[in-house]
Amino acid sequence: MTTTADTSTPLVYDPYDYVMHEDPYPTYARLRTEAPLYRNEARGFWALSLHEDVMAGFRDSEQLSSAHGVSLDPAATGPHAHKTMSFLALDPPRHGRMRALVSRGFTPRRVLDLEPRIRELTRQYVHAAMERGSFDFIGDFAGRLPMDVISELMGVPVADRAELRRLADLLVHREDGVHDVPPEGMEAALQLVVYYSDMIAQRRLRRTDDLTSALLDAEIEGDRLNDDEIIGFLFLMVVAGNETTTKLLGNAWYWAWRSPDERAKILADPEVVPAWVEETLRYDTSTQMLARIATADVALRGGVIPGGDRVVLLVGSANRDPGVFPDPDVFRLDRPEIGQILSFGFGRHFCLGASLARLEARVALEELVRVVADYDIDPAGIERVHSINVRGFAALPTSVTAR
Ligand code: HEM
Repeated sequence: MTTTADTSTPLVYDPYDYVMHEDPYPTYARLRTEAPLYRNEARGFWALSLHEDVMAGFRDSEQLSSAHGVSLDPAATGPHAHKTMSFLALDPPRHGRMRALVSRGFTPRRVLDLEPRIRELTRQYVHAAMERGSFDFIGDFAGRLPMDVISELMGVPVADRAELRRLADLLVHREDGVHDVPPEGMEAALQLVVYYSDMIAQRRLRRTDDLTSALLDAEIEGDRLNDDEIIGFLFLMVVAGNETTTKLLGNAWYWAWRSPDERAKILADPEVVPAWVEETLRYDTSTQMLARIATADVALRGGVIPGGDRVVLLVGSANRDPGVFPDPDVFRLDRPEIGQILSFGFGRHFCLGASLARLEARVALEELVRVVADYDIDPAGIERVHSINVRGFAALPTSVTAR
């Protein structure tokens, strides 16, 4: 990956451009120095790329609202966005109410309690992969585990999981060149809604110890979540927590492969795994940007974003800001400043699943390090996903040497 910026060409940041999917970082570097308040006229949005501005943008939900959704995809944009994105696409006070109620069920304890089960699920996949010696890190492992874990959390029976994974894949999958939710994705969304409605109806009759049951009982001063709100949240977990975690695992695997010195440290000591996860989140995070809408004119860096305009917060760029991360284009495990990463957002919308994503990545990678002496990836078989905000791989053909 090259990270030197060619400043002789006009500066264009277009998240739909495949060149950007290959390597957005040289463009981010130019945005930070040449146009920290960048305007893409053709696509009609503004972009903020400096760490300071991205963080301030996350903080300022009054001027930069989430109420029209956080994606640039047209179908996911508009005042209806919260119907599929739940409180991710709400501002205060509605956001606070929903998040507080959901947090009564989605507790740190519930996440921690998942660890043994995550380890068990991981071992099944790792065992099968090691038996074969070569496997697709995404298709055979990283693409499967997160949906299993979310299903486990929600209480989806094992027998239904393959079908739910198929629907979730259809929902987030985009063919090359498609810039919106395709009809198959819409159809899959409807089927998921029907499935979750039935599940909620069953739990109403008989509670179990899963998150769905806990959400039915969540209450603050007599206020409770209704069925639509619970469905919206279950849906949000699939959309926000599934692909992002798959990509985090894949990006960790890929960058350790590309960085032999760091890989040697990782494979020599499982204690290093959390640092591997954090540096991956910084260096090449799965959620590259979040969109907002300006509620009024916003003056920034000598320009003005007119009220009503779309603004994107470039997390992927903030994490490479040399003002915060020295030598930002080097993948390095020992970074004292790593706590500054914005990969899970900041402020009131800070990722509710961050501890689950971290737990899952740590357990999954620890289990691999336990049994893998070294590994190689076949460069000819590597495939990237083409998405405007999710960054990662669709295929990483891997061969492993067992310990
Ligand atoms: C590597 C994995 C993940 C990344 C990079 C990630 C990233 C993010 C980011 C950047 C936000 C803030 C969005 C904004 O400000 O507009 C967010 C919000 C959220 N994430 Fe995650 N996420 C990950 C995994 C998960 C998981 C596993 C779950 C749940 C199972 C989850 C659930 C949520 C929810 C519910 C929100 C909305 C919070 C709110 O609006 O108050 N995420 N995530």
